[in-house]
Amino acid sequence: MGITVIGSLNYDLVTYTDRIPAAGETFQANSFETHTGGKGLNQTVAISKLQQKDADYKIRMIGNVGEDAFGQQLQAYLEKNRVDTSNIGTHFDVSTGVATILVEEKNGGQNRILITAGANGKTVYTDEALTKMFQYHDEQDNEHMLVFQHEIPDPVSIMKWLNNNKPTYKIVYNPSPFHPLQKEDWSLFDVLVVNEIESLQIIENVYPASHVEKTKANIKKDFVEAYKSICEEIQKNVMNPSKSAIVIITLGSLGVLFSGAEDPIVQYLPAIKVPKVVDTTGAGDTFLGGVVTQLYQGKSLKCAIEFSTVASSITIQKQGAAESIPHYSDVMSALELK
Ligand code: RIB
Ligand code: NA
Repeated sequence: MGITVIGSLNYDLVTYTDRIPAAGETFQANSFETHTGGKGLNQTVAISKLQQKDADYKIRMIGNVGEDAFGQQLQAYLEKNRVDTSNIGTHFDVSTGVATILVEEKNGGQNRILITAGANGKTVYTDEALTKMFQYHDEQDNEHMLVFQHEIPDPVSIMKWLNNNKPTYKIVYNPSPFHPLQKEDWSLFDVLVVNEIESLQIIENVYPASHVEKTKANIKKDFVEAYKSICEEIQKNVMNPSKSAIVIITLGSLGVLFSGAEDPIVQYLPAIKVPKVVDTTGAGDTFLGGVVTQLYQGKSLKCAIEFSTVASSITIQKQGAAESIPHYSDVMSALELK
């Protein structure tokens, strides 16, 4: 049994500032920190930290780093969190992926992120390599979950290989940063986790312009209602009805919408109010990790969403990405206090 994340590892260079400079402007920021990051790594760490105490399924990350100090640190951090890193490649001809992040401290801990792929650009596999990487799990289970984001060159072709060769595996996709896909490729996965911007980008990707205009007008009229319709449309018309077809749309401080083939009525859960938002970096990754572990452990979609909402509310109260992700026990105590 196990969960595998195929994705990016980034070294985050984070500057905390009251506000963002305008073009040509220079001023002093408040502080600088380095953190472990990358959506792939963050989600892997979230899955590991949020794993129930007595659960013993394996967590593995597949990706690439450069032969440098950043890469060593990222790999060591994964190992510290009990992640199998035997499929993380090290390359001497390219540097580890880096993210330059600006966090606006006086503006709700909002972030702006620029990523440089570096070694993440090498996360491309031949069919032979994939066969080898997934052989090891054959003897162990059919119940495997695969998690993808889009900070690597072509996650879709890996998903296609999995659909053809490992049809029992469940695939979770977080299309971040967004890339347009062929319409039929939106049906390759079982669980789709998007924020509001990405959900609208999917509508733009698959529907004609007139429908997109109507959707945008609806968003102006009634934000949450409009996104409920988007969630329903993606669940019914874009994803594959023969899979679990779970769609989750995170709306930041407004909460989250979700639906799935088993429970197709779109449900809404408001976000948790916290005393002070320090740094939102990693909140989405924590949320996704929570959903994945909870679903993998057989919890209902609603329970998974409740759990993950609490988990990400803890992440935003701490600096950094992976390091700010809580453990299972932290989330359980916070849930009891609710
Ligand atoms: O989701 C947050 C992450 O996005 C950061 O850790 C950064 O590395 C970018 O990948
Ligand atoms: Na954080």
